[in-house]
Amino acid sequence: HYARTILNQLDEMKTVLEEIKGLRQGKLRISVATTANYFAPTLLSIFYQRFPDINVNLNITNRKTLLQQLQDNEVDLVIMGKPPAESDLEASPFMENPLVIIAPPEHPLAQQQNIALTTLTQQIFLVRESGSGTRGAMERFFKEHQIKINTGMEISSDEAIKQSVKAGLGLGFLSYDAVQTELKLNQLVVLQVEHLPIRRYWYIVHRQGKRLSGFAQAFKQFMLNEAPDLLGKARITATPVHDL
Ligand code: PGA
Repeated sequence: HYARTILNQLDEMKTVLEEIKGLRQGKLRISVATTANYFAPTLLSIFYQRFPDINVNLNITNRKTLLQQLQDNEVDLVIMGKPPAESDLEASPFMENPLVIIAPPEHPLAQQQNIALTTLTQQIFLVRESGSGTRGAMERFFKEHQIKINTGMEISSDEAIKQSVKAGLGLGFLSYDAVQTELKLNQLVVLQVEHLPIRRYWYIVHRQGKRLSGFAQAFKQFMLNEAPDLLGKARITATPVHDL
């Protein structure tokens, strides 16, 4: 406890010194959820053009590890799904993150409309690892609707899930953000299943009361004010009511 308090104060001191130096040089430690990998580098590169002397450390990992990193004060800012309500974190939503079921175009369900959830009990799902936010939302969704699915391979990468779905190993449950390229190339399709997509959102998160450096504040504002427009997505103006 004492060691952590001292390290946190040293960290805060560095932030204050960076502020004194002004917004010219400094370090920004950002961690993003595995799935945010599909848009975070684009946004970072735009931000980087505005502050070319900034030293960015970008880490990509799953939800469970992100929460641990926040707890250990290893990062300035995190991009992730909604953090647990009881956590000591400040979280601001900035963009939608709908989750969908994907299949290869030749799959028997690919042409069907309004597929009943019960139909899915006959299918095999390739799922993300436990500790993934996508996986957690998928499990809550099926539990809410009292559907028991068969899970096949457990895979810790959205990319590898897409490849396995294309190869016909099963259906995937992924963020719409993660499958844009494959949908455009007609390599995958989104199944038209009732009650889907799952409504989920992206948040920019940091520890409550954390003293953010000038860069970190600038990046947070950049995400909240500009990210949706830059990515051609809808802006979130109020706290989402339903966020699985
Ligand atoms: P994940 O997080 O990449 O760990 O699945 C994404 C999310 O929380 O929706």
